[in-house]
Amino acid sequence: MASDVEPLVLKSPTLRWIEHRLPIIGFGYRHLVAYQTPRNLNYWWNFGSLAGICLMLQIVTGVVLAMHYTPHVAHAFDSVEHIMRDVNWGWLLRYAHANGASMFFLVVYIHIFRGLYYGSYKAPRELLWMLGVVILFLMMATAFMGYVLPWGQMSFWAATVITNLFSAIPLVGESIVTWLWGGFSVDNPTLQRFFSLHYLLPFVIVGVVFLHLVALHTHGSNNPVGIDLTKKDKIPFHPYYTVKDMFGLAVFLLVFAGFVFFAPNVLGHPDNYIPANPLVTPPHIVPEWYFLPFYAILRAITFDIFWIIPAKLGGVIAMFAAVGVLFFLPWLDTSKVRSARYRPIYRIFFWLLVVDCFILGYVGAHPPEGFLVTLGLIATIWYFAHFLIILPILGKLERPLPVPESLSTPVLGRGMAPAPAE
Ligand code: HEM
Repeated sequence: MASDVEPLVLKSPTLRWIEHRLPIIGFGYRHLVAYQTPRNLNYWWNFGSLAGICLMLQIVTGVVLAMHYTPHVAHAFDSVEHIMRDVNWGWLLRYAHANGASMFFLVVYIHIFRGLYYGSYKAPRELLWMLGVVILFLMMATAFMGYVLPWGQMSFWAATVITNLFSAIPLVGESIVTWLWGGFSVDNPTLQRFFSLHYLLPFVIVGVVFLHLVALHTHGSNNPVGIDLTKKDKIPFHPYYTVKDMFGLAVFLLVFAGFVFFAPNVLGHPDNYIPANPLVTPPHIVPEWYFLPFYAILRAITFDIFWIIPAKLGGVIAMFAAVGVLFFLPWLDTSKVRSARYRPIYRIFFWLLVVDCFILGYVGAHPPEGFLVTLGLIATIWYFAHFLIILPILGKLERPLPVPESLSTPVLGRGMAPAPAE
């Protein structure tokens, strides 16, 4: 199935005229049609394009929501209710945007774990991966600020708790918090700057995604076997992966529609339907589900570290380090073999990490009492140990299974036909 794609021939004189002056048709053809792609990509490779679609959906629904939303503490909550009740299809826009954020994180988390399993962060894709980590940081900032906009109880208290974390920074902490708030408490200037940045950041994400794709197309996709492929093991992106991506999109939209139409509030917190009240603290302040593991890590540090780092600062550092450590992953994982398929011991640790993240999520969702405090600490230690201790050592000690030289080697070696695409 190795491909020799037809060169682009433009029959229309108008298109030729345009292409001669602005070669975007050829650009699209090279990167979306003729682009050479491994022929064995499985469905886990659908999640990158799905993430792109989520980003577009968030921007489109967000821009229309912003036409009816009022970023003022006296009107924000009511303007969201106005969108829900009075604006034509406003309920759909808002539910699609709120649940769309959850879907976006779900898709990106799967995308990241796919990368972890198949070693997609290894050379020569280190920068591709690091740009992904930048995207993740930006997504988190965007989602956090977006959650504040409806100005419900959870919005207000989440903003208060998270911005207050910066006060843990020695000497300058208090000044940073005042600067973030634009005053001496979470108030109207805070809401307005969060709205402004929440509108801006998605476009910054679009820019970083563009760089992400430039890096991707420089060396091409990794694949489930994790070896570098020759031309005969590649096929053109269209029609093979355009069709596969469309199928993935259809399944995704079914799940998304399930939430939007049948359980639009199941992922949210009921307290956010109570207008923000600085005088009443909710009994449990919990973030959205996609922040829960990080929230658990933040709360896991309940003791001063080495007598010099106070517990609160330790928690803040640990929380940011939980994402930051991913930056260094290409160098922390010392194994020469990319795919977990050929790394039997790594595969076990990979699944332990997945379980660990679920445990952290569970701990983050519940009040830090009794056994959960210890469990949160153990899960946090395991999380960091995975990246900082296990991966560097495992790469040296593990004996990987024999890795095939090409996609057809293992089966052709036994005198059979090449392996089909997955
Ligand atoms: C807005 C968010 C993102 C978008 C739109 C996006 C888009 C894409 C697309 C379209 C691909 C190619 C298809 C695929 O391999 O699935 C890709 C590949 C990749 N992405 Fe992302 N991505 C995003 C976030 C991230 C994040 C957060 C990370 C990691 C921290 C990441 C790491 C990677 C890696 C390593 C690859 C190469 C995979 C391979 O070739 O095996 N991406 N991305």
